[in-house]
Amino acid sequence: MAQKTAARPASDDDDAPPAPPKPQVNLEDLSGVGETTADKLREAGFTDLMELAVASPGDVAEAAEIGTTLALKIINEARRAADVGSFELGTTLLERRKKLGRISTNAKSLDELLGGGIETQAITEFAGEFGTGKTQIAHQVAVNIQLPADQGGLGAETVYIDTESTFRPERIVDMAKAAGIPPEDALSHIHVARAFNSNHQMLLVTKAQELARERPIRLLIVDSLTAHFRSEYPGRGELAPRQQLLNKHLHELLKFADTYNAAIVVTNQVSARPDILFGDPTRPIGGNIVAHAATYRVYLRKSKPPKRIARLIDSPNLPEGEAVFALTTDGIRE
Ligand SMILES: Nc1ncnc2c1ncn2[C@@H]1O[C@H](COP(=O)(O)OP(=O)(O)OP(=O)(O)O)[C@@H](O)[C@H]1O
Ligand SMILES: [Mg+2]
Repeated sequence: MAQKTAARPASDDDDAPPAPPKPQVNLEDLSGVGETTADKLREAGFTDLMELAVASPGDVAEAAEIGTTLALKIINEARRAADVGSFELGTTLLERRKKLGRISTNAKSLDELLGGGIETQAITEFAGEFGTGKTQIAHQVAVNIQLPADQGGLGAETVYIDTESTFRPERIVDMAKAAGIPPEDALSHIHVARAFNSNHQMLLVTKAQELARERPIRLLIVDSLTAHFRSEYPGRGELAPRQQLLNKHLHELLKFADTYNAAIVVTNQVSARPDILFGDPTRPIGGNIVAHAATYRVYLRKSKPPKRIARLIDSPNLPEGEAVFALTTDGIRE
C-alpha cells in the first residue's frame, strides 16, 4: 500500500494537523484530454488524477478509446499533477503499524488465523458460497468492535453497507446480549445503509467518510462487495469496466482504512469454475482486482453443521492455515 504522507488526512489518533488541501486539477486540465475523453474516462471510473496516475496505459486506452501512446502521455501528466511517487520512511510506516487495532471474531482459532483478529488499516475479505457465514461474521464484528480493547474490541462504531438487504437488527440483539452489551446501545453504534446499486454503494463510502469525521468509526463493512457489480456487468465484454469500477471502489475503501485507522470487512461470493476437475471448483468474484486489494482473504466452506472452515489465502505476512468455528444463535463461536 503506497501512501503519501503529505496527502494523508490526519487519522483520529494522529496529532499532526491535516495537510493543506491540494489545488483541484480536473481531468480536462491535462493536455491531450478533451471533454469527450474526460467524460469517457470518468465513465470508466477514472474520476480523479490518482486513479489515472496509477492506471495501466492499456486500461486507459480502452476506456477513452485512444491509442496507448496518448494514454501513456496522459498517465504521465496525471502522475506529475497528482505528485505520485513520494516516499515514506520505514520508521513512519512502523509507527503507523504500531497503531493497528484488532477486532475479535469471537472464535479463537479464526482470530489466530488472522494474526490476532481482524486488523485495522487493512481490507479483510470473507469469500464463500451461500450460507457459509459471511453475513454472520459481519454482524459479529459490528458488535465486537464496541467492546473495550481488553475484550477484543476497539470501543468504536461501524458503518455497515448492506447490498443484499441481509442486515438483521435481531441478530445484533442476539449477539449483543451474548456479549453483555445492552442491545439498544449495540444497535445505536451501527450505521447501516442499504446500497441500491454499485454506484450508490461507492457513494456510500464517501458518506461514510463524512460520518467518520463526527463519529468514532473504526470498521466499515461491505456485504456484499461484488453482488451489484456482478449483476450490473454480467457479460464477458463488460469485464473491463466492471473491474475498473471495483478497483476504484477498493481503493476508496483502502483510503478509508488508512485515514481512520479502520478495519474494512468485505464479503464476496464465489463463482463456479468449470475448468477445475480436482480440488475446489469455485473462486471468489472479482478476480485479481480483489485479490490484490484485499490484505487478508479468508475462504469459508461448510463442514458438519453448525461448523464452518475458514482458510487464509495469499497473506503477505501470515502463514496459510485453517480454522474451524461454529455459527450459533449467540453468534460466532469457537
Ligand atoms: N439465529 C441463528 N441461529 C443460529 N444460526 C444461524 C442464525 N442465523 C443464521 N444462522 C446460521 O448462519 C447461516 C447463514 O449464514 P450467512 O447468512 O452468514 O451466510 P452467507 O455466507 O452470508 O450467505 P450468502 O452468500 O447467501 O449471503 C445459516 O445457514 C445458519 O447456519
Ligand atoms: Mg450473506
